[in-house]
Amino acid sequence: MEISTKNVNQKTTNAKAQTLIEFCYRTSNDKKGVKVNSPNAHKQILLLIEDAIKDGHFSADPNETIIFRNAQLDGYKHVLIVSLGDVKRIGPESIRRSCAAIEKALVKNKVVEADLNTDNLLSRANKNVADYVAAAVEGFLLADYEFDKFINKDMRKKQHPIKTIYFLTSSKTNSSQLQKGLEVGKILSECINFARALGDTPGNLLTPEILGQETIAAAKGTKLKVQVWDEARIKKERMGGLWGVGKGSDNGPRFILMEYKGAAASKKPICFVGKGLTFDAGGISIKPSMAMDEMKYDMCGGSTVIATMLAIAKLGLKINAVAYVPASENMLGPSANKPGDILTARNGKTVEVLNTDAEGRLILMDALSYACERKPELIIDVATLTGAIVVSLHNVYTGYFTRNSKLKAKIEKASLTAGERVWQMPLHNEHGKDIKGRHADLQNISNHRGAGSSTAAAFLENFVDKDIPWAHFDIAGTAWDLGGRFNYCPEKGASGVMIRTFVEIAKDF
Ligand code: BES
Ligand code: MG
Ligand code: ZN
Repeated sequence: MEISTKNVNQKTTNAKAQTLIEFCYRTSNDKKGVKVNSPNAHKQILLLIEDAIKDGHFSADPNETIIFRNAQLDGYKHVLIVSLGDVKRIGPESIRRSCAAIEKALVKNKVVEADLNTDNLLSRANKNVADYVAAAVEGFLLADYEFDKFINKDMRKKQHPIKTIYFLTSSKTNSSQLQKGLEVGKILSECINFARALGDTPGNLLTPEILGQETIAAAKGTKLKVQVWDEARIKKERMGGLWGVGKGSDNGPRFILMEYKGAAASKKPICFVGKGLTFDAGGISIKPSMAMDEMKYDMCGGSTVIATMLAIAKLGLKINAVAYVPASENMLGPSANKPGDILTARNGKTVEVLNTDAEGRLILMDALSYACERKPELIIDVATLTGAIVVSLHNVYTGYFTRNSKLKAKIEKASLTAGERVWQMPLHNEHGKDIKGRHADLQNISNHRGAGSSTAAAFLENFVDKDIPWAHFDIAGTAWDLGGRFNYCPEKGASGVMIRTFVEIAKDF
């Protein structure tokens, strides 16, 4: 899908753009019924809406759409109206959702090109024009995503994907803010959709080596520097966890390093670390076969971090940022880790591998140790780390762990702006006690059944220097199969969660 602009006077020159998109919102819903408004719309629009409400065909619920076919209005054949919901709740997230609803309605009606009344969309924007436009673009482009490149054309679900949405401009439009919003929205959506595609790609087509190559290819033409370490280098760098997990597979591990310089060299970087487990069979502690295919998504922490760095570079943020992605398979080859094996992390701590399926923390421990050596301003790691977080929070809230109250405030603010939900989970010394080892410093699973996400976080904490603010995000529940909870995310497949939140954190950094 393309998003473009067009002056309102040019609107009838393109005979194919026969559909006009208009917005409305609810101003009251009292005993007298639903009241709506639609400022800056064509004057007949409100009459159409009011009529539809009277007839009981429309109630202006959030994201509700109604198409007036053959309305023949102002040179347009059809008019599609979408509700932003309650006037008091209009903001980037309601706009994102209403544009995703438009995408669905257009596809359903086989409309491949439409003009959008930008002044109407922005009638409540005040100073937030760029943010509202970016959110609209995200709604369209994120909803447009479909991982169907391996499906023959005539078998694809979307038989009529949208070609172009034109944002109409008039003398009222704040063009510079509109352009800024379009650019930001496009960059974020492209990066998120790139991360989703990595997540949806199966293990045979996305090995650690390929993940490295994809990262290098995606960073071409940006200011990002990417390096990929192979097995020999990983071993030489004393990354015993990554090397230990990786040696169970013929497709060896990789360590991906990304660096972005947008500020003075003296300025400490923000650091992202992401679990890039391209397929998690569980290792010798093999997983049950039911839904094991889902473990192709076990690299979503890595893809989140890669996409966040791409977005930071493409937005040209004036910060320094680094990212590390330990990438590996977790397989059952003849050299695989055995339960009881002891591995030594880069920072010298030893770990008893009591369950080879708790491998995420083993590859992250080296990446976190390495990250600390770079002395960053703060470290954020993200991983599909535990099934326990799925039990606690399922697929709406991402659980995060930090002991740093300033960082907590930053995270909460960023997630609110980004429209992604996060929930702080407990991390205390008691959790740390549960993963003390018997024959090594640590063991990779807890002595108890409960609080598995917290004990995993406590394990990771052993590899972060106390003086560096650190937060850990467990996206095992929110990285895929959101089941239609957010209409701009696929019901099935990778969601691309937390990229918007991380970019917000970086902006505020
Ligand atoms: N990749 C899994 C975590 C996971 C589970 C992600 C379900 C998404 C959905 C991780 O490597 C794992 O296997 N964790 C184990 C840890 C346990 C053995 C302590 C788990 O959560 O069961
Ligand atoms: Mg596992
Ligand atoms: Zn895993």
